[in-house]
Amino acid sequence: MSDKAFRNALGKFATGVCLISVNDERSGALALTANSFSSVSLDPPLVLWSIQNNSECFREYTDCHYFGISVLSSSQEHLSNRYAQKGCHGIDQSDFMTDPTGTPLLRNALAQFSCKRHKVIDGGDHQIVIGEVIGYATEDRDPLLFHAGSYDRLKSSAA
Ligand SMILES: Cc1cc2nc3c(=O)[nH]c(=O)nc-3n(C[C@H](O)[C@H](O)[C@H](O)COP(=O)(O)O)c2cc1C
Repeated sequence: MSDKAFRNALGKFATGVCLISVNDERSGALALTANSFSSVSLDPPLVLWSIQNNSECFREYTDCHYFGISVLSSSQEHLSNRYAQKGCHGIDQSDFMTDPTGTPLLRNALAQFSCKRHKVIDGGDHQIVIGEVIGYATEDRDPLLFHAGSYDRLKSSAA
């Protein structure tokens, strides 16, 4: 199976974009761009995302007790690019607030989820991180979309 063709096929699935954040004892507060976020269960409230095994932040995200998920709005593309760069996962504190567990959450996000790590499951070259949602907040904004390797906007908000 060709890697490129498979990636292109997967990219046909339009997603939102999130920042996954963690407050690590050794590395400090980190954020990483991800579009693998998905809902899993309503009762108990579970969500997932997956992290590549060769991420420089692998330990921080798979060992953590708590992590945050912030769903990006259409005006936050620069933050998606910023936290998708190697060596640039340390957060700019001014963009974030802190939840009661000490986990950073992005200000002005469409949705913020505070999660307690539930399970980490082997998923080939990624690990699937399942979190139990212990708090959340939402705002009415337009989402940032990711489709076929590019950012996009809802057509109703593109004009
Ligand atoms: C739109 C978008 C979605 C991404 N989704 C994921 C993801 O779900 N999981 C992941 O491990 N990396 C994802 N990445 C890549 C990471 O954000 C980051 O670029 C990569 O982890 C950099 O390597 P590092 O983790 O070693 O710094 C995504 C990047 C972009 C731009």
